[in-house]
Amino acid sequence: MKVLVVGKGGREHALITAIAQSPTETEIYSFPGSDAIFELARPTDATDLPSLIAFMQRENVDLCVAGEESYLVTGDGLANCCREAGIPCWGPEKQSAQLEASKEFAKNFMVKHSIPTGSAVATSSPDEARAAITCYPVVLKFDGLAAGKGVVICEDAAQADVFLEEVFVQKRFGDGRVLVEEHLTGPEVSIFVSVVDDAYHILTPARDYKRIGDNDEGPNTGGMGAVASMQLIDSSILDTIERTIVKPTVDALQADGLRYRGFLYFGLMLTPDGPKIIEYNCRFGDPECQAVMPLISGDFAQYVFEGAKGNLVPELIKADGGWSICLILASAGYPASSRSGDVISGLDKVEGARVYHAGTRRNGEGAFESNGGRVLAVVAPGNDRISARDKVYAEAAKIDFPGAQRRSDIGTLHFQ
Ligand code: AMP
Ligand code: GLY
Repeated sequence: MKVLVVGKGGREHALITAIAQSPTETEIYSFPGSDAIFELARPTDATDLPSLIAFMQRENVDLCVAGEESYLVTGDGLANCCREAGIPCWGPEKQSAQLEASKEFAKNFMVKHSIPTGSAVATSSPDEARAAITCYPVVLKFDGLAAGKGVVICEDAAQADVFLEEVFVQKRFGDGRVLVEEHLTGPEVSIFVSVVDDAYHILTPARDYKRIGDNDEGPNTGGMGAVASMQLIDSSILDTIERTIVKPTVDALQADGLRYRGFLYFGLMLTPDGPKIIEYNCRFGDPECQAVMPLISGDFAQYVFEGAKGNLVPELIKADGGWSICLILASAGYPASSRSGDVISGLDKVEGARVYHAGTRRNGEGAFESNGGRVLAVVAPGNDRISARDKVYAEAAKIDFPGAQRRSDIGTLHFQ
């Protein structure tokens, strides 16, 4: 089977590793890929969406897997173009991917279908936004892709004014509206679901650690680590999530004619009033994917291929009941800036843990060096959370590069 995976980060490295290790024989391509990914996958000559589709047609690619989301909403949409070309695609079509690309679209969808979420008002000017704020703290969200910088929790009017000025006056993220959203409280959890039309399959729950510093302090990042386990949340809570959120969402996609085959990520908050949706993403989480993938055995490649063709076959994979912890090593200056070119040592010393490359490249001597903000994801499994944590920290300690940043509390569950 010829598989092409779109993306270049740690999540795609983890997906490609799982595909490569599947019993189904595969020939893997990656776009745009990375030096580490190219040890498992071949590069393409594509430069954009049309040339990528042309490449897949020319090479008779059997399956396209959208690791990251951007191409889902680029041009005519990756999945739409694949359908036109007759290539099964794991990743939703452009209209459905608005669930991630537009927070206003997602909010309207949830409200229309009575799916639990914080109440919100969409506003088009600082005055409208101020008028919609009824109490503090309040959450302000730019309605579009903003590289993780488009959401602020404001404790008072002064903080709200700063964000409204950035969005509406300085147009920091371009044109767009602002959602004024109710502030929810409670532990956060990420639920990943394989959706195939009207059917779904819930994968191992995870949580990520978004802040740069220990105890969730400091600025937001793309994610400094993740923990995944079926034991992460109570089975009764998972049942509630399935009944009140997952199934209603899949039914609503069908009702609205939104075609969906791919991973759907539910960012949830377990509030005192029950689980509520913070956000949908039309892909796997990063770095949650790196934590979840090592727990999955079976034929992942075939699972995704069948799903992309419209057959959801959960039996093709099996989830380990234990724990998995992913620790991110980030470069100096991240997240405000990032430094590249720091040579990485110790990669060959790691045993019993996986290392997925998020931002690395080979230098002139053939050694891996940093190439971006988040550099590596070290992932270790364990029968329990503590053994997974001890293992990941022991193995990650063998890896170093100048200025490397890592949190020391990944795997700690602040909410338990
Ligand atoms: P988002 O980009 O929508 O995932 O938001 C980023 C982060 O902001 C989330 O992971 C939450 O920690 C926080 N957040 C978003 N919406 C809310 C809300 N309604 N109440 C409290 N925190 C929120
Ligand atoms: N882990 C957060 C995300 O993938 O958006």
